[in-house]
Amino acid sequence: MLDEKLQGYLDSLLPARDGVLMKMEVYAKEHGVPIMEAAGIEAMLQILRIQKPETILEVGTAIGYSALRMAHALPGVQIVTIERDEERLDLAKAYIKEAGKESQIKTIHGDALETLAQASQWAPYDTIFIDAAKGQYKRFFEMYSALLRPGGMIITDNVLFKGLVTAEEIESKRIRNLVKKIDGFNHWLVSHPKFDTVILPVGDGVAISKLR
Ligand SMILES: C[S@@+](CC[C@H](N)C(=O)[O-])C[C@H]1O[C@@H](n2cnc3c(N)ncnc32)[C@H](O)[C@@H]1O
Repeated sequence: MLDEKLQGYLDSLLPARDGVLMKMEVYAKEHGVPIMEAAGIEAMLQILRIQKPETILEVGTAIGYSALRMAHALPGVQIVTIERDEERLDLAKAYIKEAGKESQIKTIHGDALETLAQASQWAPYDTIFIDAAKGQYKRFFEMYSALLRPGGMIITDNVLFKGLVTAEEIESKRIRNLVKKIDGFNHWLVSHPKFDTVILPVGDGVAISKLR
């Protein structure tokens, strides 16, 4: 969202991460695992420190990086996180164990479109973080907002999709369709009668929606 020099400057000011988190960042880079962008995650963590949730539901664990960042930032929080890719989830569990955060993070293996009943065991949630298949954001939001407590918050990552939401021409039909879906989601979200939403142009674009 920012020019490269300014983004580099801001990145140079980011707080250092501990050993396991650094290891995960290196793994994600080397294996092409999409974890939340550094600036986006810092903004999200600061909002969470202000909100002070006791329970968080995450849709899209990958290797557990954002779950662990949230657990570190909020030592008392209980996190439930959903991932459909078994290999990634196994790795997430190993990292969570290595970080000593097993008592704080529960994992659910499955397609988030089918795990509402499992996730509802620990509902209501103070915060829901959506960071899975971008084409399904509206469905995830509609399904899981039922598990949000009144006044709670839903955070959605990648809503500006590398700036592509304003691109005039996109060659790939798949990406074009995805952008159309994200754009449709954004318009739907900002006019949702039950939520107040702001889209922060940080990281890959982070939407913060508060249930009235
Ligand atoms: C962007 S990554 C999550 C990154 C993670 N939140 C982080 O920042 O460390 C998205 C993950 O969502 C998973 N995913 C995508 N669609 C899903 C679905 N329908 N149900 C469960 N997981 C899904 C993918 O397998 C992928 O690992």
